[in-house]
Amino acid sequence: MRIDIISAQPRLMDSPFEHSILKRAQEKGLVSVHLHDLKEYGIGKHNQIDDYQFGGGAGMVMMVEPILNLIQDLSKERNYDEIIYMTPDGALFDQKTANNLSLKENIIILCGHYKGVDQRLRDHVITKEISIGSYVLSGGELAAAVVSDAIIRLIPGVLNDESSALYDSFQDNLLAPPVYTRPAEINGWKVPEILTSGNFPKIEAWREAKALEITKERRPDLLEGDSL
Ligand code: ADE
Repeated sequence: MRIDIISAQPRLMDSPFEHSILKRAQEKGLVSVHLHDLKEYGIGKHNQIDDYQFGGGAGMVMMVEPILNLIQDLSKERNYDEIIYMTPDGALFDQKTANNLSLKENIIILCGHYKGVDQRLRDHVITKEISIGSYVLSGGELAAAVVSDAIIRLIPGVLNDESSALYDSFQDNLLAPPVYTRPAEINGWKVPEILTSGNFPKIEAWREAKALEITKERRPDLLEGDSL
Protein backbone atom coordinates (compact mmCIF):
# COMPACT_ATOMS: atom_id res chain seq x y z
CA MET A 1 0.00 0.00 0.00
CA ARG A 2 1.11 3.55 -0.70
CA ILE A 3 -0.06 6.65 1.18
CA ASP A 4 0.76 10.13 -0.15
CA ILE A 5 0.08 12.89 2.33
CA ILE A 6 -0.17 16.49 1.11
CA SER A 7 0.39 19.20 3.66
CA ALA A 8 1.58 22.77 4.19
CA GLN A 9 3.36 21.49 7.33
CA PRO A 10 4.58 18.00 6.45
CA ARG A 11 7.28 17.92 9.17
CA LEU A 12 4.46 17.83 11.74
CA MET A 13 4.01 14.18 10.77
CA ASP A 14 7.65 13.07 10.84
CA SER A 15 7.56 11.52 14.27
CA PRO A 16 4.47 9.28 14.03
CA PHE A 17 5.91 7.51 10.98
CA GLU A 18 9.45 7.17 12.32
CA HIS A 19 8.81 4.93 15.29
CA SER A 20 7.43 1.61 16.39
CA ILE A 21 4.82 -0.20 14.28
CA LEU A 22 4.51 2.40 11.50
CA LYS A 23 8.28 2.49 11.07
CA ARG A 24 8.51 -1.32 10.96
CA ALA A 25 5.65 -1.57 8.47
CA GLN A 26 7.60 0.70 6.11
CA GLU A 27 10.86 -1.16 6.67
CA LYS A 28 9.13 -4.43 5.85
CA GLY A 29 7.90 -2.87 2.60
CA LEU A 30 4.23 -3.38 3.54
CA VAL A 31 3.44 0.31 3.20
CA SER A 32 5.22 3.39 1.88
CA VAL A 33 4.30 6.79 3.23
CA HIS A 34 5.28 9.91 1.27
CA LEU A 35 4.95 13.36 2.77
CA HIS A 36 4.61 16.18 0.23
CA ASP A 37 5.22 19.81 1.01
CA LEU A 38 2.45 21.79 -0.66
CA LYS A 39 4.61 24.92 -0.61
CA GLU A 40 6.79 23.35 -3.30
CA TYR A 41 3.76 23.74 -5.56
CA GLY A 42 3.04 27.27 -4.34
CA ILE A 43 2.44 30.04 -6.85
CA GLY A 44 4.74 32.95 -7.66
CA LYS A 45 7.95 33.94 -5.99
CA HIS A 46 6.40 33.63 -2.53
CA ASN A 47 5.13 30.12 -3.18
CA GLN A 48 1.62 31.18 -2.30
CA ILE A 49 -0.77 28.37 -1.36
CA ASP A 50 -3.67 30.30 0.17
CA ASP A 51 -5.65 33.46 -0.46
CA TYR A 52 -8.47 35.61 0.94
CA GLN A 53 -11.95 34.23 0.58
CA PHE A 54 -14.38 35.61 -1.99
CA GLY A 55 -17.21 37.46 -0.32
CA GLY A 56 -15.01 38.59 2.56
CA GLY A 57 -14.51 37.14 6.01
CA ALA A 58 -11.63 36.21 8.23
CA GLY A 59 -9.25 33.40 7.42
CA MET A 60 -7.36 32.21 4.38
CA VAL A 61 -8.51 29.53 1.95
CA MET A 62 -6.18 26.98 0.39
CA MET A 63 -6.04 27.59 -3.37
CA VAL A 64 -7.05 25.10 -6.06
CA GLU A 65 -3.94 25.31 -8.23
CA PRO A 66 -1.10 24.10 -5.96
CA ILE A 67 -3.15 21.17 -4.67
CA LEU A 68 -4.49 20.25 -8.10
CA ASN A 69 -1.02 20.38 -9.71
CA LEU A 70 0.46 18.18 -6.99
CA ILE A 71 -2.37 15.66 -7.22
CA GLN A 72 -2.11 15.61 -11.02
CA ASP A 73 1.64 14.95 -10.82
CA LEU A 74 1.07 12.06 -8.42
CA SER A 75 -1.76 10.70 -10.57
CA LYS A 76 0.53 10.56 -13.60
CA GLU A 77 2.57 7.92 -11.75
CA ARG A 78 -0.25 5.69 -10.51
CA ASN A 79 -4.00 5.46 -10.05
CA TYR A 80 -5.38 6.48 -6.69
CA ASP A 81 -8.28 4.63 -5.08
CA GLU A 82 -9.19 7.53 -2.83
CA ILE A 83 -8.29 11.19 -2.45
CA ILE A 84 -9.16 11.92 1.15
CA TYR A 85 -9.54 15.36 2.67
CA MET A 86 -9.09 15.70 6.43
CA THR A 87 -11.64 18.18 7.74
CA PRO A 88 -13.73 18.61 10.91
CA ASP A 89 -16.91 18.64 8.78
CA GLY A 90 -16.15 15.28 7.16
CA ALA A 91 -17.68 11.90 7.99
CA LEU A 92 -16.69 10.64 11.42
CA PHE A 93 -13.79 8.17 11.16
CA ASP A 94 -14.43 4.73 12.59
CA GLN A 95 -13.08 1.17 12.49
CA LYS A 96 -15.27 0.26 9.53
CA THR A 97 -13.72 3.06 7.44
CA ALA A 98 -10.23 2.02 8.59
CA ASN A 99 -10.96 -1.58 7.54
CA ASN A 100 -12.14 -0.45 4.09
CA LEU A 101 -9.20 1.87 3.52
CA SER A 102 -6.68 -0.79 4.57
CA LEU A 103 -7.72 -2.77 1.47
CA LYS A 104 -6.79 0.02 -0.95
CA GLU A 105 -3.64 0.12 -3.04
CA ASN A 106 -2.90 3.87 -3.28
CA ILE A 107 -4.44 6.72 -1.36
CA ILE A 108 -3.83 10.44 -1.11
CA ILE A 109 -4.57 12.29 2.11
CA LEU A 110 -4.89 16.06 1.90
CA CYS A 111 -4.48 18.01 5.13
CA GLY A 112 -6.59 21.13 5.49
CA HIS A 113 -5.33 24.31 7.10
CA TYR A 114 -6.68 27.76 7.89
CA LYS A 115 -10.30 28.00 6.66
CA GLY A 116 -9.85 24.85 4.60
CA VAL A 117 -9.63 24.26 0.86
CA ASP A 118 -11.49 25.93 -1.99
CA GLN A 119 -14.86 24.15 -2.30
CA ARG A 120 -14.20 23.33 -5.97
CA LEU A 121 -11.55 20.83 -4.91
CA ARG A 122 -14.10 19.17 -2.65
CA ASP A 123 -16.66 19.12 -5.45
CA HIS A 124 -14.41 17.81 -8.22
CA VAL A 125 -11.26 16.17 -6.86
CA ILE A 126 -11.74 14.87 -3.31
CA THR A 127 -13.41 11.43 -3.11
CA LYS A 128 -13.78 11.14 0.66
CA GLU A 129 -13.90 13.61 3.56
CA ILE A 130 -12.94 12.43 7.01
CA SER A 131 -13.12 13.95 10.49
CA ILE A 132 -11.47 12.21 13.44
CA GLY A 133 -13.81 13.77 15.98
CA SER A 134 -16.14 16.62 16.81
CA TYR A 135 -13.45 19.14 17.68
CA VAL A 136 -11.24 21.41 15.61
CA LEU A 137 -7.49 20.80 15.33
CA SER A 138 -5.10 23.45 14.06
CA GLY A 139 -4.62 21.46 10.87
CA GLY A 140 -5.36 18.09 9.30
CA GLU A 141 -1.83 16.73 9.89
CA LEU A 142 -2.39 15.02 13.23
CA ALA A 143 -5.70 13.70 11.95
CA ALA A 144 -3.95 12.29 8.85
CA ALA A 145 -1.43 10.55 11.11
CA VAL A 146 -4.26 9.06 13.18
CA VAL A 147 -6.07 7.77 10.09
CA SER A 148 -2.85 6.39 8.59
CA ASP A 149 -1.98 4.59 11.83
CA ALA A 150 -5.42 3.01 12.08
CA ILE A 151 -5.15 1.82 8.46
CA ILE A 152 -1.55 0.63 8.43
CA ARG A 153 -1.82 -1.60 11.50
CA LEU A 154 -4.57 -3.55 9.70
CA ILE A 155 -2.39 -4.47 6.71
CA PRO A 156 -1.58 -8.20 6.96
CA GLY A 157 1.93 -8.73 8.30
CA VAL A 158 2.18 -5.36 10.04
CA LEU A 159 1.29 -6.64 13.50
CA ASN A 160 3.41 -9.55 14.68
CA ASP A 161 0.43 -11.57 15.79
CA GLU A 162 -1.76 -11.03 12.76
CA SER A 163 -4.88 -12.10 14.56
CA SER A 164 -4.47 -9.46 17.24
CA ALA A 165 -6.08 -6.69 15.17
CA LEU A 166 -9.15 -8.90 14.83
CA TYR A 167 -9.67 -8.75 18.58
CA ASP A 168 -9.30 -4.98 18.87
CA SER A 169 -12.01 -2.92 20.40
CA PHE A 170 -14.66 -2.05 17.75
CA GLN A 171 -13.85 -4.93 15.36
CA ASP A 172 -17.01 -6.74 16.44
CA ASN A 173 -18.81 -3.60 17.63
CA LEU A 174 -17.62 -4.42 21.15
CA LEU A 175 -15.03 -2.73 23.34
CA ALA A 176 -12.15 -4.97 24.42
CA PRO A 177 -12.35 -6.90 27.71
CA PRO A 178 -9.83 -6.05 30.49
CA VAL A 179 -6.37 -7.62 30.34
CA TYR A 180 -3.89 -8.54 33.09
CA THR A 181 -0.30 -9.71 33.28
CA ARG A 182 2.10 -10.98 35.94
CA PRO A 183 2.24 -10.86 38.90
CA ALA A 184 -1.11 -12.46 39.73
CA GLU A 185 -1.28 -10.31 42.86
CA ILE A 186 0.25 -6.95 43.70
CA ASN A 187 -0.62 -4.64 46.63
CA GLY A 188 -3.42 -7.09 47.39
CA TRP A 189 -4.94 -6.45 43.90
CA LYS A 190 -5.76 -9.83 42.42
CA VAL A 191 -6.21 -10.97 38.84
CA PRO A 192 -9.72 -12.46 38.31
CA GLU A 193 -9.37 -16.13 39.24
CA ILE A 194 -10.90 -17.40 36.03
CA LEU A 195 -7.92 -16.08 34.03
CA THR A 196 -5.44 -18.28 35.90
CA SER A 197 -7.73 -21.33 35.86
CA GLY A 198 -6.45 -22.75 32.56
CA ASN A 199 -10.09 -23.38 31.52
CA PHE A 200 -9.97 -21.72 28.11
CA PRO A 201 -13.63 -22.09 27.08
CA LYS A 202 -14.61 -20.48 30.38
CA ILE A 203 -11.99 -17.76 29.93
CA GLU A 204 -13.38 -17.02 26.46
CA ALA A 205 -16.93 -16.83 27.83
CA TRP A 206 -15.77 -14.51 30.63
CA ARG A 207 -14.04 -12.21 28.13
CA GLU A 208 -17.12 -12.05 25.92
CA ALA A 209 -19.34 -11.26 28.90
CA LYS A 210 -16.95 -8.54 30.10
CA ALA A 211 -16.72 -7.01 26.62
CA LEU A 212 -20.50 -6.84 26.44
CA GLU A 213 -20.81 -5.41 29.96
CA ILE A 214 -18.22 -2.68 29.26
CA THR A 215 -19.76 -1.81 25.90
CA LYS A 216 -23.26 -1.52 27.42
CA GLU A 217 -21.87 0.74 30.12
CA ARG A 218 -19.60 3.00 28.04
CA ARG A 219 -20.71 2.83 24.42
CA PRO A 220 -24.26 1.51 24.13
CA ASP A 221 -24.41 3.19 20.70
CA LEU A 222 -22.04 0.50 19.36
CA LEU A 223 -24.57 -2.21 20.12
CA GLU A 224 -27.17 -0.46 17.99
CA GLY A 225 -24.81 0.32 15.11
CA ASP A 226 -24.30 -1.54 11.83
CA SER A 227 -21.91 -4.44 12.01
CA LEU A 228 -18.51 -3.80 10.40
N1 ADE B 1 -8.76 19.28 10.77
C1 ADE B 1 -9.07 20.06 11.82
N2 ADE B 1 -9.82 19.39 12.70
C2 ADE B 1 -9.99 18.14 12.20
C3 ADE B 1 -10.69 17.00 12.65
N3 ADE B 1 -11.38 16.99 13.80
N4 ADE B 1 -10.66 15.90 11.88
C4 ADE B 1 -10.00 15.91 10.70
N5 ADE B 1 -9.33 16.96 10.23
C5 ADE B 1 -9.33 18.08 10.97
